[in-house]
Amino acid sequence: MEIIINDDHQVLAKIVVDSIEAMVRQKPDSVLGVATGSTPIPIYEELTRRVEAGLDLSQIRIFGLDEYVSLDENNAQSYAYFIRQHIIEPCKINPANVRLLSGVAEDLKAEAADFEAAIKAAGGVDLQILGVGHNGHIAFNEPTSSLASRTRRVSLTEKTIEANSRFYNSVDEVPRHAISQGIGTILEARHLVMLAYGEEKGYAVKEMIEGPVSAMMPASALQLHPHVSVLIDEGAAKTL
Ligand code: GLP
Repeated sequence: MEIIINDDHQVLAKIVVDSIEAMVRQKPDSVLGVATGSTPIPIYEELTRRVEAGLDLSQIRIFGLDEYVSLDENNAQSYAYFIRQHIIEPCKINPANVRLLSGVAEDLKAEAADFEAAIKAAGGVDLQILGVGHNGHIAFNEPTSSLASRTRRVSLTEKTIEANSRFYNSVDEVPRHAISQGIGTILEARHLVMLAYGEEKGYAVKEMIEGPVSAMMPASALQLHPHVSVLIDEGAAKTL
């Protein structure tokens, strides 16, 4: 596990985008896994600047990590909306190359199976961007998720619902369920890039890096992966 600590989020974003750029120059149809949340936004802004400066991302393929059940892509709280606003449109990604999870599919089991098959057909994810929840969740794999879990419908914990309620008018509006790549699915990506900022992520970061590998701390599963980059600021690194 490679750990990079820097208090300048722009510097960290540049490091990640340098990796993405190098990957795309070598393999123009690279498969990029994208995360939502506030933490990776500087990455997408930096990626947008590179595209404006001439980087061609027209062939890359994009996979999402998770989605709220019941929110469609036109709902401003959906992850599909976020990905369109922050990545697809500004980075001029071909929409035909994008596969996100649908939270409004009639049969979520079939949607999950189809999504897994699509990743396989693409040859797997080359680089997966990840964030972490305060309780150590990755994507929407909450504590107690099997470390071997695959894409499926999941229930959100009260802690996550509360943390994500900052984007809603009231906590009652936050969906209670999501469809999420499993931990086993995520671990199959060839390079995992995890970002965490601020003291409030300190507990999850410490357990992810130094704690025992446990289903109670989904992010600790990263210890099982041979190629992980963790980019954190001083706040998140404080407890290490
Ligand atoms: C959500 C997402 C996660 C994300 C987490 C942290 O719960 N499902 O994929 O990592 O939020 O978000 P933030 O970066 O805003 O702290």
